[in-house]
Amino acid sequence: MTTPLILAVESSCDETAVALYSADEGILANEVYSQIELHRVHGGVVPELAARDHLRRLPHILQQALERAGKTLTDINLIAYTAGPGLLGALMTGAGYARALAYGLNIPAIAIHHMEGHLLSPLLDTAARPQLPYIALLVSGGHTQLMAVDAPGSYRLLGQTLDDAVGEAFDKTAKLLGLPYPGGPELAALAAQGNADRFPLPRPMTNRPGMDFSFSGLKTQVRLLIEEQGDDPQTHADIAAAFQQAVVDTLVIKSRRAWQETGYRDLVVAGGVSANRTLRQALQQEADKRGKRVYFPPLALCGDNALMIAYAAAQRYDGHDSPLNIAVKARWDLTDLPPHPIRQP
Ligand code: KG4
Ligand code: ZN
Repeated sequence: MTTPLILAVESSCDETAVALYSADEGILANEVYSQIELHRVHGGVVPELAARDHLRRLPHILQQALERAGKTLTDINLIAYTAGPGLLGALMTGAGYARALAYGLNIPAIAIHHMEGHLLSPLLDTAARPQLPYIALLVSGGHTQLMAVDAPGSYRLLGQTLDDAVGEAFDKTAKLLGLPYPGGPELAALAAQGNADRFPLPRPMTNRPGMDFSFSGLKTQVRLLIEEQGDDPQTHADIAAAFQQAVVDTLVIKSRRAWQETGYRDLVVAGGVSANRTLRQALQQEADKRGKRVYFPPLALCGDNALMIAYAAAQRYDGHDSPLNIAVKARWDLTDLPPHPIRQP
């Protein structure tokens, strides 16, 4: 039996994305349009503008994806879309578009969890794949979680942030440092010019047991440092480096605990912050030291994209359509998902 050709739509935040993928033919298209310019003047994502722009772009990006893949709409067998978590209005445009398309083509549509997309994205690298069971460290603009992946699609929460997500902490701290949106990559670039040892910052929640995180205090410490130390460029770079190192050390310490507590060998890192080079190096070093393994998505798949949604759909699809309603969820726990269907080899 041939595997379905999947068209996926991602519109949960500020990237409009369409991908075409099948397990047999592989990656046929992965188009991403970033709304960065639209939101930059506002200093952050404006949900209403994001939703309107998704709807404006989607038909063109779909066309682009089909052309890139050399396919037509009638070649598609299954449509996948991000149904949450994310911005409600933004999610609804993608979900409405995807469902209407599926209805018109008389093919099934399947609702996908955005973070499951991120979590499975390292598996798209067929040369180096983690082995089940494994640990997942999810670090994005909205999430910071350590998960045990005990079986395909079966997630158990080990720890999560009690306040800001890592990406959010990067973005807010970048703003304090006067950097433009989106702050994460900007802050990382500034940190590369700085000395991480000049200003000592705490590694939050590491002196008590458990795998939960808290990052909002760091942001306050940075605000105080900026007030005390003035704003010459080198001081800003040193503060950025100190902040980044504090976050990275904290993530490494909690990941070490996850390795210890589960006894699992493999750790998968995913979400926008998994693009951070300092984090990648530190986790790689920690894994090497302990005889463990760490897996990252290819850099191009760290940010939001529809390929990860198509891939998750390929794992999840069991021949059944999602119910015929355009239900999207701003909040949605990964632990609420059913396991992946068992496939015959
Ligand atoms: O997964 P993602 O693209 O969107 C969400 O689902 O949230 O993650 C975006 C987050 C933003 O907060 C962004 O600043 C952060 O990932 N980010 C980074 C880096 N690249 C993106 N944070 C730190 N260092 C980076 N290199
Ligand atoms: Zn994301």
